[in-house]
Amino acid sequence: MEEVKIKSIIGVDVKGKTVLFRPDINSPVKGGKIVNDNRLNATIPTLKYLVDGGAKVAVIAHQGDTLDYQNLMSMAPHAERLTELSGIKVDYIDDVCGEYALQRVRELKEGEVVLLGNLRYLTEEVSTFEKDVKLKAEDMLSTYLVRRLAPLCDIYVNDAFSAAHRNAPSMVAFELLMPSYAGPLFFKEYEALHKVMTSAAKPLVFVLGGAKISDAFGMMGKVLKDGVADKIIACGVTGVVMRLAQGKKIGAKYENWLRDRDLMAFVEPAKELLKEYGDRFVLPVDFAYEEGGVRKEISLEDLPHDDAMLLDVGAKSVSIFEEVLGSAGTIFVNGPAGVYENELFSYGTDKIWNAIAKSSAYSVIGGGDTVTAASKFIDLKDVNYVCTAGGAMVRFLSGKRLPLIEAMLNSK
Ligand code: 3PG
Repeated sequence: MEEVKIKSIIGVDVKGKTVLFRPDINSPVKGGKIVNDNRLNATIPTLKYLVDGGAKVAVIAHQGDTLDYQNLMSMAPHAERLTELSGIKVDYIDDVCGEYALQRVRELKEGEVVLLGNLRYLTEEVSTFEKDVKLKAEDMLSTYLVRRLAPLCDIYVNDAFSAAHRNAPSMVAFELLMPSYAGPLFFKEYEALHKVMTSAAKPLVFVLGGAKISDAFGMMGKVLKDGVADKIIACGVTGVVMRLAQGKKIGAKYENWLRDRDLMAFVEPAKELLKEYGDRFVLPVDFAYEEGGVRKEISLEDLPHDDAMLLDVGAKSVSIFEEVLGSAGTIFVNGPAGVYENELFSYGTDKIWNAIAKSSAYSVIGGGDTVTAASKFIDLKDVNYVCTAGGAMVRFLSGKRLPLIEAMLNSK
């Protein structure tokens, strides 16, 4: 395992050092409130180590959105919640690396912590991995974030395994400039997933749902090609896009919704996948929508329905999925089956989660929204491994070298 060459922060003397700490506390949020503390809790041991060791801690982190990069918000709720959960006072300043942020970092005393503004306020954080700007870590040294913060900090600590797939300045550039270490969560996640990947019982079934479909499309081809995934149950928006790729008309409302979010762009890649691996996909055969405040189900053959938003899978799909899950040796899940927060559309997620909880397969779930969904319907103890990572987990499992791991291996 090459990655063991990455150095751990545990055991390093941090007293009096200004530590730039990059955890992933991107959390499920509803109405501006954090609704799941999983990632915040997982960050506490590293934070405690730094504080107890007398470091001056500047935390940089992001909050995204379930639908990719919309609804940017301040991270004041994260600082507040982290303070409550850890008992460590975490100040917040709504500035990433402007004058206010820099001033606060310079003033940090030993054992003090400040969380800086949402990294996603900076275009360079997102454009470098999501759009067409493919910067290398060296190129990112001239980004505003790195130029401003690096000179003030002595050590860089990254514990953001769950964002390891993001080739962003906050994740991969500071390593070139200063002594860099990973936190204990990084190693815990890495080791658990590595073990599962190398010794997974077959058949291995992926369940991919949710609205952030770039995650699913980022890995499906690879896990199918390499034989990692024996079956992929595609639900959520991915399930609908796969059906569109088969030439099925869904209906104007849903298709416009996809078009407005540039998600129709996934139809072509979906066609390619189906051409090559069609027999390994398990797709929804019916969907649920709302009419007059009531849940209605519609079969694939009765579509298109121009006024329907298909926000859950239907009962016939659930039966098919249950059967596949029942004979799985290992199950990986990322993303709920539908808009489970709305009672009308929680059926599919509820049933699928319970099938996973009851299954004798080794089950791994990851991703903030997936964990929130799961904890609503089942006891998380019935899942074998709950990972803080979602997108990073699926990419890791697809055998891709993650940008963070690359950067840590090349660190100063
Ligand atoms: C995640 O939740 O996958 C990580 O925090 C990365 O977030 P993102 O998908 O918004 O880049």
